[in-house]
Amino acid sequence: MPETWFNVEDAERLAAERLEPGVLGYFAGGAGDEETLRENREAWRRWRLVPRVLTDVSAVTTRTEVLGAPVDAPILVAPTAFQRLLHPDGELATARAAAAAGTAFIHSTLATIAPPDIAAGAPAGRRWAQIYCFEDKGVTRALWEHALAAGYEAIVLTVDAPPAGNRERDLRTGFVVPADLRVPSLDAACGPGREYTITQTFDLMDRSLDWDDLGDLVAETGVPVLIKGVVAAEDAALAVERGAGGVVVSNHGGRQLDRSLATAEALAGVVDAVDGRVPVLVDGGIRRGVDVALALALGADAVLIGRPALWGLTLEGEEGVRKVLDLLTAELELALALCGVKAPGELTRAHLRRG
Ligand code: FNR
Ligand code: LAC
Repeated sequence: MPETWFNVEDAERLAAERLEPGVLGYFAGGAGDEETLRENREAWRRWRLVPRVLTDVSAVTTRTEVLGAPVDAPILVAPTAFQRLLHPDGELATARAAAAAGTAFIHSTLATIAPPDIAAGAPAGRRWAQIYCFEDKGVTRALWEHALAAGYEAIVLTVDAPPAGNRERDLRTGFVVPADLRVPSLDAACGPGREYTITQTFDLMDRSLDWDDLGDLVAETGVPVLIKGVVAAEDAALAVERGAGGVVVSNHGGRQLDRSLATAEALAGVVDAVDGRVPVLVDGGIRRGVDVALALALGADAVLIGRPALWGLTLEGEEGVRKVLDLLTAELELALALCGVKAPGELTRAHLRRG
């Protein structure tokens, strides 16, 4: 009889008991002193909501639109690597859960299942493809071409990881991506049968990437290209100028630059710089529906969750990811009703104060 869990923190605790130290360290850990990892969570808690009352909340919905199509809640699944290390069904379970929950699944470049297999196994769901640019430009092009051919509707270009962050948990445990774990992109870049440290994985990527490359990707792919890993408002403005179809405020879940600003602190500046021209999404430390509500009130169109989905996957596969999405959606719906609003788009900065 699996232990019952009622919120994301319960799931995190139970998953941590289940995973072996190297795998747990990779998935749970952050860079350096893990200040940013911690602060991402704490920063949401520094804000307070100011509810309005007597507004008739008999019909509240979490439904909204992201990139011009509906989602049942503004809670999308962030791209995260190597999911078959957590559950044999890996990314397929996650994509199926996202589809069942009526939200979008973002497929990591370092996924253990290829886009056509996800498309076949979760045909109804919305899917976006996250891209790291390999030094081998042919590998990068094949990545997005295969995803687009499999019906993926957008590209998410992650820009905060030219080299990997300083992940000391991985050094302590000696964590490597095992040679027998199939990672289609790495097989394409280097052939199968190798084991990789995370640093070696990122050493395959193109560190010379600049704003011109974003412009090229936008022109070549012909689908919205969201840029993930923006903290500075100035970069958000540049992204929009270069044709980005959306901006994801993110510090990679505290795994890259330690002491990078927490995303809850960076969000408002990015929202102001983007000024409604493209959607703004945010991730990092979101563990409660009220965190989602705060992000919406600060001006985000939607949030992504990284680790929470992974803990659900660890515990119960597809059903576990679904449960995490359902829990957060129910918490958000309650937060909306108790804030006195009927829909995600009705939360504004008037509903916020600094705690
Ligand atoms: C990530 N993240 C990530 N991002 C990305 O663009 N491509 C990737 O392959 C990965 N891989 C990855 C693995 C693991 C184990 C984690 C925890 C994170 C970052 C991810 O998309 C997201 O930005 C953060 O996870 C958000 O923070 P929370 O929700 O985990 O706090
Ligand atoms: C990570 C990668 C793969 O954070 O993005 O480990």
